[in-house]
Amino acid sequence: MIQIGDEAPNFTANTTLGEINLHSWLGDSWGIFMSHPADFTPVCTTEIGRVANLKSEFDKRNAKVLVLSVGIKEGMTPKDSHLEWIKDVNETQNANVDFPLVEDPNKEIATTYGMIHPNASDTLTVRSVFVIGHDKKVKLIISYPASTGRNFGEILRVLDSLQLTANYQVATPVDWQHGEDCIVIPAVSTEDIPGKFPKGHKIIKPYLRTTPQPNL
Ligand code: BEZ
Repeated sequence: MIQIGDEAPNFTANTTLGEINLHSWLGDSWGIFMSHPADFTPVCTTEIGRVANLKSEFDKRNAKVLVLSVGIKEGMTPKDSHLEWIKDVNETQNANVDFPLVEDPNKEIATTYGMIHPNASDTLTVRSVFVIGHDKKVKLIISYPASTGRNFGEILRVLDSLQLTANYQVATPVDWQHGEDCIVIPAVSTEDIPGKFPKGHKIIKPYLRTTPQPNL
């Protein structure tokens, strides 16, 4: 089972954009590696389209998207199935999918990443999301059932939090959005706050100290 903090298992696989070695392909970027139950299914179609239409948001955050779907159309190769489906996605979602869809004919990658939850389906993946940092470590894992499309606003929100908290001694409170006040982590003593957070701070309780978002 992969857990937060583990190195994202590396693999080399064929994709709709040619062979990819995950770690080399990521380079210095962050990664969003996610699974879909199947090609040519309605919820997945809307999700893929949304991710394509959020390209500038992922680019802004130096994050690359990689998608895995093991449920391919019968009689097609994985690549042909993915490419045919992308045409539908582009048409119906007014999108231009330009990120790779991974081929995983033996479900090896899906199994390694724990994307198949046997009590949900023993053949198809659930909707998994792995956020991978530029250090190749897993930063976030979320799983949704097939029946519920993901909220990619939430994925971007978490990416903002992860990238902020990787560089500053802050955490982000409940429902935090980019631009809102952050929490100074307990490892910073109250005496040290002014030097580290010159924009100001509030002490609500000795353990609950806030400061304006430091990277703005
Ligand atoms: C869908 O993407 O619509 C879907 C896929 C598998 C099961 C149920 C829904």
